[in-house]
This record gives sequence, structure tokens and C-alpha cells, in this order.
Amino acid sequence: MRVLGIETSCDETGVAVYDTALKGSQGLRAHALYSQIALHAEYGGVVPELASRDHVRKLLPLIRQTLAEAGLGLDEIDGVAYTAGPGLAGALLVGAGVARSLAWALEVPAVGVHHMEGHLLAPLMEDPDPIHGPPQAPFVALLVSGGHTQLVAVDAIGSYRLLGETLDDAAGEAFDKTAKMMGLPYPGGPQLAALAEQSLQARPGAGAYKFSRPMTDRPGLDFSFSGLKTQVLLAWRDSDQSDTTRADIARGFEEAVVDTLVIKCERALDAAGSDTLVVAGGVGANKRLRARLHAMAARRGGRACFPRPELCTDNGAMIAFAGALRLQAGQFEDAAVKVAPRWDMATLPKV
Ligand code: KG4
Ligand code: ZN
Repeated sequence: MRVLGIETSCDETGVAVYDTALKGSQGLRAHALYSQIALHAEYGGVVPELASRDHVRKLLPLIRQTLAEAGLGLDEIDGVAYTAGPGLAGALLVGAGVARSLAWALEVPAVGVHHMEGHLLAPLMEDPDPIHGPPQAPFVALLVSGGHTQLVAVDAIGSYRLLGETLDDAAGEAFDKTAKMMGLPYPGGPQLAALAEQSLQARPGAGAYKFSRPMTDRPGLDFSFSGLKTQVLLAWRDSDQSDTTRADIARGFEEAVVDTLVIKCERALDAAGSDTLVVAGGVGANKRLRARLHAMAARRGGRACFPRPELCTDNGAMIAFAGALRLQAGQFEDAAVKVAPRWDMATLPKV
């Protein structure tokens, strides 16, 4: 089955074709992404109406480009998957409208995919580890994006239990807001991470700044990152605000977030009685986080599985893949254009 996947929940237009006849990353016949970052940069964050209008401009050309790269005609598509939520209502409606119209015209089924389920299943699309194969449920998932920070017990594909989540800012949001405070352009997460790396290379050993690991001194699996942001703001205000200091603070901040995530992931594995951790979402591209979670899982005799960095951030491939699993299981909906800007993943049906 060849599934066209469409992602338009926020500021990236993503399109891909996943072919279930081919395994692992081979199944990803083509994928293309158009990022609106430059469009939103001057506003310091995503402007929803501009995002919707840009999806309208870019989606059809991107679908044509992706099909051409896959060497497929529209008549060779067996199903369409699109992000139905959570996300920006207007942006979601662009993808839903195009996906539903295409499916109607081609007389193929279409399915609305949960954006976070897309992220969560992305590591399963990668080539399986030659020794252990692809991660198999049950496992624990850490979802760390610009909008979410969640620990989820995955009992089966489609069967999700929330173990813990952030009480305020998401991890990616904390990266972005901290970067902005120190004068870095939007989205600051990757740039802050690059500065942290510079500081570590230039000044190995203990860093000059150490911030707290929020909510790790008490039991529980919830997170809170807004206090950490304030600590950084105060440190930055009281500093000489040089490039060196900015990099050192970035490093202290990254270490605090990464440490906190590692501590909570280990707790979640203990709570779920599992040794397999699956990590997804934009912050999953962070090098320090990847290295530390690999080490933590290996120490327990388990493993941490990530998508390749480009598939950690928003993309159409994860939507094509998650949609293909549901379409293969015979799950699709009637031809109504419906989206769910807020959507609890625990309400999804089992595949
Ligand atoms: O999953 P994603 O592309 O979009 C959402 O669904 O939110 O995640 C984007 C988030 C942004 O906050 C961005 O700053 C963060 O992921 N991010 C990173 C890195 N790459 C992206 N944060 C830290 N280190 C990175 N390397
Ligand atoms: Zn996302």
C-alpha cells in the first residue's frame, strides 16, 4: 500500500510517500519539507494566519514534487494520511481539505493522524537494529517537541497511557524562549544547542553555570520548565552578556534540561517495568540528549530508539507511516473535513 502523507499542523509543510510493501526506511519512497521559519522569524514566533496562507501556497507544489521524486503518478496512491490535530486550526484545515479532496477524487481511503502519534511512531520507520529488530510495544515513549513534553506508556500501537507531562512550558518551548531571551533568532532550540556544544569544546570540565533540575527532588513523572527559564534570565541579566557567557549559559541550560529528561525517563522505565525507550519530537534531535539517553538505557541493559534527526522535527514521513499502519488495519473515516486542534492521544483506538 502506497500512502501519501501530509503534515501542516504548524510551520512546516511536509509531504511524503510511504510504501508498506518495502520495509523500514526503504518504505519511505520520497519526502519533502518546506519550512516557514524565515516567514515567522521577524515576529519571533509562529503567526497562525500567515502559516495557513503559506501552507495553501506550498502544499500542492510539494505534493507534485514528492510524487515525482517517488516516480509515482497520483493514480498509484492507495491512501491519503494527514495531520488532523493537535495543532493550529487554520493550518490543519489546509492539509485536511487537500487530503480529503484528493482521496475523494482518487476514490481511495483517507485517515486523520494524531500529530504526536506520528512523532511517536517515527522511530519504528527507521531501519531495525540488526540485533534487536525494531522497537516492539510495550515500551515507554518520551515526546519532546515545541508544544509537548510527555512520557507515554505504549502498551500497543494505538494504545497510549500518559505517565507524565509538563505543567507549564514544553521542553522545546523552554529552549526557544531561553534562546530568545539571550538574543538568538527564532526558533532558538538548535542554535542554543550549538552554542552549548561550542562552550563544551572550548572549555571542557565543569561548566561555569549550573541550574536546577526542576521537580527531580520529589517523586512523580511530571515536568516544569518555566522556573528554569527564569533562572537563566536572571543569570543572563547579571552577566557581562558576552558571546562566551552566552555559550556557557546555553550549556548550563541544556545540561539542566537534558539531566531532567534523563532522570524522568529512567523513572518512567522503572514505573512501566520496561527497558525500551522511544524518543521523538524536535528536541529528540538534540545531540546531548541522544547521547545521554543511549547511555542510560544501555546501563540498564536496554536501549533508546530515535528517528534520524531530520525526522525528529515535523515532517510528512511520520504522518505517511502512522497513517499507513491505520489504513492497513482498515481504519479510515468518512469524507468530512474535520480537525481537532486539541486532541487527547489516550482516546485513540487500538490498531
Ligand atoms: O516537533 P517539532 O518540529 O515541532 C512541534 O511539533 O513542536 O519541534 C520543534 C521544537 C522547537 O522548539 C525547536 O527549538 C526544538 O524542537 N529543537 C531542538 C533541537 N532541534 C529542534 N531543541 C534542542 N536541540 C535541538 N537540536
Ligand atoms: Zn511536532
